[in-house]
Amino acid sequence: MTMCCMKLTMSVQDVGKNNITVMLLMGSLFLFSVASPSPHSGSSLVSPSVYIVRLRGESVHQRASAASETNAEILTDSNRLSFEAEEYAEFLKSSHDKLLAQVLVPNSYEKLYSYTYLINALSVKLHGDSYEVSALRDHPDVLFMEHETMFQKATTHTPDFLGLPHGAWLAAGGAKHAGEDVVIGMLDTGINPSHLSFTSDYYGPLKSWKGKCLVAESFPDGSCNHKIVGAQYFAKGIIAANLFNATYDFDSPFDGDGHGTHTSSIAAGNSGVPVIVHGNNYGYASGVAPRARLAVYKVIYRDGGFLSDVLAGIDQAVQDGVHVLSVSLGSTSGTYGVPALSIFDLSLLFAVKAGVVVVHAAGNNGPYPLSMNSFGPWMISVASGLSDRSYPNPVIFKGVGIFPGAGFSAGTPGEEFYPLIHAEDAFLNHTNAYEAEYYSYCQDASPFNRSLVAGKILICNFVEYYSGGAAVQFQAALITAKNLSAVGLIILREPTDVWRDKSNSFDPIPFTMPASFVMDANASSEILKRYKQKTKMNRDGQVREFGAYARLSDSRVASYKVQAPQVSSFSARGPTYANTVTSVFADILKPDILAPGSQIWGAWSPTATDVNGYSGQEFALLSGTSMATPHVAGVVALLRQTHPNWCPSIIQSAILTSATQYDTKGRRLLAQQPSANASQLLGAGTPFDFGYGAVNPTAALDPGLAFKTDFQDHINFLCTLPGADANTVQDATGGTCRTAPGARSSDLNIPSITIANLIGTRTVRRFVTNVADNEETYTASIRHPGGVKVAVKPAVFTIKPKTTLSFHLTFKAAENVQSFTFGSLTWMGSKGHVVYMPLSISANSVTG
Ligand SMILES: *[C@@H]1O[C@H](CO)[C@@H](O)[C@H](O)[C@H]1NC(C)=O
Ligand SMILES: *[C@@H]1O[C@H](CO)[C@@H](O)[C@H](O)[C@H]1NC(C)=O
Ligand SMILES: *[C@@H]1O[C@H](CO)[C@@H](O)[C@H](O)[C@H]1NC(C)=O
Ligand SMILES: *[C@@H]1O[C@H](CO)[C@@H](O)[C@H](O)[C@H]1NC(C)=O
Ligand SMILES: *[C@@H]1O[C@H](CO)[C@@H](O)[C@H](O)[C@H]1NC(C)=O
Ligand SMILES: *[C@@H]1O[C@H](CO)[C@@H](O)[C@H](O)[C@H]1NC(C)=O
Repeated sequence: MTMCCMKLTMSVQDVGKNNITVMLLMGSLFLFSVASPSPHSGSSLVSPSVYIVRLRGESVHQRASAASETNAEILTDSNRLSFEAEEYAEFLKSSHDKLLAQVLVPNSYEKLYSYTYLINALSVKLHGDSYEVSALRDHPDVLFMEHETMFQKATTHTPDFLGLPHGAWLAAGGAKHAGEDVVIGMLDTGINPSHLSFTSDYYGPLKSWKGKCLVAESFPDGSCNHKIVGAQYFAKGIIAANLFNATYDFDSPFDGDGHGTHTSSIAAGNSGVPVIVHGNNYGYASGVAPRARLAVYKVIYRDGGFLSDVLAGIDQAVQDGVHVLSVSLGSTSGTYGVPALSIFDLSLLFAVKAGVVVVHAAGNNGPYPLSMNSFGPWMISVASGLSDRSYPNPVIFKGVGIFPGAGFSAGTPGEEFYPLIHAEDAFLNHTNAYEAEYYSYCQDASPFNRSLVAGKILICNFVEYYSGGAAVQFQAALITAKNLSAVGLIILREPTDVWRDKSNSFDPIPFTMPASFVMDANASSEILKRYKQKTKMNRDGQVREFGAYARLSDSRVASYKVQAPQVSSFSARGPTYANTVTSVFADILKPDILAPGSQIWGAWSPTATDVNGYSGQEFALLSGTSMATPHVAGVVALLRQTHPNWCPSIIQSAILTSATQYDTKGRRLLAQQPSANASQLLGAGTPFDFGYGAVNPTAALDPGLAFKTDFQDHINFLCTLPGADANTVQDATGGTCRTAPGARSSDLNIPSITIANLIGTRTVRRFVTNVADNEETYTASIRHPGGVKVAVKPAVFTIKPKTTLSFHLTFKAAENVQSFTFGSLTWMGSKGHVVYMPLSISANSVTG
C-alpha cells in the first residue's frame, strides 16, 4: 500500500469556476432463514444466543494506521504481527475476557472470538436470560451489540467470453502469468486442495505474506502449495448454534460443500484443466487470474454460516495480507436499520481502509426491486449475468416443432423418432384421478405397464413442491424410466407450478439417460396438447394407437447463441434502502457491476452432496451471484498485478467506469424481469439491474480517470445517512464526521450519481485523477434521465497525469416524475479513454 488514497488537495485544479455550461433537458442455495431480531433489541431472545459486541478502544489496525495509514507497515517481515501489535492484540483479548468476567455470571457464557485486528469486538454465547444481555449492553465500554445472524452462500468458457486471452491476460504476459503474486482471499466453504485446478508448479516465493495453513481432517500436510497459500477455518459460531455436522462440514479447511472450491477456481483456478463430468468432456477450465494465489478462509458450511465466524475470517484475512477479498455470501435476514452501519459492512470498510479490495455478491433475491444484499459503497457489489453459452436440450416433436428443455444427457439413439407415452396412459389398472396425478410424477415404477412403456419416450409431470426438490424428483423419475426400459424421458412442468419467475434459472444437471426437463410451462402445455391430439383413444379411455413421435438430442454440447450478457433473473436489484426502518432510499448505486454468474463450470468436491447430479464429480455447473463475484475478484487481481500501487478505490473506479452497457452484438443490455407467469420476460436493463454495466477487464486496466475515496470520505458518507448521527458514526467507526453543512450521501466521490429524492435543484461535485501516462482532454457527453435537466461544468477539461481536478453536475427537476429515471455522463478522452458515469435520479418535485 502506498499513500495513493490520501487526498490530493494540493494538486486539485479547480476548473469548476469555469463558465462553460451545458444545459440540456430530457431523457440457491436455499436455507432456513433465521428470523433475526433488531440489532439493538435482545431482551425477548430465547437462550442460548450469540452476540457480537463492539467495544470502545482502537483495533490493532486502527491504532497502527493512525500513525502510518498503511497496512504493510503494521506487519513486520517475519511471519507475524510486529511485537508491539501482537502485544496490543493480546491486551485487547484479555480486556475482553476481563469485561465478560466482570459483567456476567461465571459459566453463564462462552466467548467465541475476540476480534482485534480490524475491529475491537468480541462474540459471546450467552446461556442465560435477558438480564445478561442488558448488563452487557449497559457497560460503558460497550458501544453496541448486534445479534448473531445467519449467512448463506449467496469456468470453462467465461474467460474467453470476457475477452481475457487476447486482452487483460496479454498485458500480464499470457495465462501463465495473469495474476502473478496477487493473493485472493476466499471467504467461503473452504477448498478441495487435491483438485487439478489448484496444483502448483513453478511459482516463486511470495513476499510479505503472513497467512498460515492448518493441517486437519481431510486437509493433510502438503494440502497447501504455492497456489493455495493459506487455509484456515472458523466454526465457533456454527458450533455454538448446534448446526455444525461433522459428517459433511469437516473440522478443517476442507470443502465438504463444493461452493468454495467452485468460487476459488473461478477466481484463480489453473488454466487448461479438462472439465470431465460423468465421462463427458465439457471443455477446459481456467480461472480469471490463473496465476493468482488463493488464501482460503472457511466461514460458511453446507447449511449456512454465522456472522461471528464470517467476522473472524475477515479479520484474519486482512491481517494475513490478502490483496483481494472475494465474498460470495450474505446475511439471510438482511439488516435492520442502516445497512452500511452493520458490523459486517463496517468490517469490510476497515478491510478497504487496510488496502484490500472487497468484492461482494449482490444476492440472489432478484428480479424484484430492493432485493440487494450488499450495501457499503466501499465494496464492489456484483450482479450476475448470462454468458453466450447454453446447453440446449430440446424435445424434437415430429411434425410439431422443437421445444426447449434443460438437463445434460445423451440423445435418444440415432436420428429416429420414438413413440411418446404419457404416464397417465401407461398405468397397469385404471386408477382414480388422484392416484393418476400422483403416479404421473413417475416416482415409482410399480403402477406402470412395462410392456407399454418399453421402447417409448415416457412423459412425466413435474411440480416443484411435490417432494424433496427438483433434483430429487428428477432422479426418481430417471430410475423409473430406466426400470421400465423407456428410451427417453420428458419431464413436463405443470402450468400451475409455483416456480414461476425462476423459470429459466434452473441449471442443467446431469441426467443418467436421454432426458429433457421442459421447464417452460407454455411449451409443456403445447407438448401435452399435441400429444393428446395425436394419441388415439378407445371409448373406455385406453390408448388405441400411439401416434405422437419425438426424439431427444445430445445436450452435452454447448451452443453459443444467447444474447449476452443479460442480467440473470435471480440477480438482486436496486435501488437500496439507506435505512430499512424508515424506508429511505440510498443515494448510491447498487449493484455495481455485472459478471458471468449463470451456468458456470467450476471445480468441485467429489464428497459434496448438496447439489444433485454432481456427487463424486470433479466439476459442477452452478449459477448465482456467488459465481459472478469471483470473476470480478479475478479481474481485481489482474489490475493489482499491473498496477501494484493502485489503492482499492482506484481499482474499484477503474472496473466501474470501464464497464460496458452493451452486449456482444452492440445492443443495450437486457435484464430478465419479473414475470406474471412461467415464461421468461426480458426487458431493457437499468443501472439497478447491472450497475455500471458488464465488466470489461481489458478496458479496466487503462481507465484514464479515477474517482478516489478514502476512509474519511466513507465516514462522511455514513454521517449523511438517515438514522446515523455523528455519535453513532463515531461509535461505529472511531471516525469523526467532517461534513460541510448540507452535505449529502450523493457527495461521496464515486463514479455514479444517484439521487433518490430530487426536489428542485441539486449540485454534486466530483473529483477525478488522471491515472494514465499522458495529458488528455475530456469532453462530456450526457444522456439525460427523464424529466431532469443536467448540466456539467466544465464540459471540457484537460488534465495532466497524476493530477486531480473537479467538476460539478447540476440536476434540476423539470417534471414531477416520482420514480427513478436513468441517464449517464460519459467523459470521452482525446486519447481514447471512455469514462462512464451512470445517473439514477428520481425527480420528485420541480419546486423546492
Ligand atoms: C449429520 O449428517 C448426517 C448425514 O446427513 C446425518 O445422518 C446425521 O444425523 C447428522 N447429524 C446431526 C447431529 O444432525
Ligand atoms: C399392458 O399393456 C398391453 C398393451 O396394451 C396389454 O396387452 C396388457 O394386458 C397390459 N398389461 C397389464 C398387466 O395390464
Ligand atoms: C392393479 O390391480 C391389482 C389387482 O387388482 C392391484 O393389486 C394393484 O395394486 C393395482 N395397481 C395399481 C397401480 O392400481
Ligand atoms: C425394476 O425394478 C424392480 C423392482 O425394484 C426390479 O426387480 C427390476 O429388476 C427392475 N428392472 C430393471 C430393468 O431395472
Ligand atoms: C406458447 O407456445 C406456442 C407454441 O409453441 C407459441 O406459439 C406461443 O408464442 C408461446 N407463447 C409464449 C408466451 O411463449
Ligand atoms: C405470460 O405473461 C406475459 C405478460 O407478462 C404474456 O404476454 C404471456 O402471454 C403470458 N404467457 C402465458 C403462457 O400465459
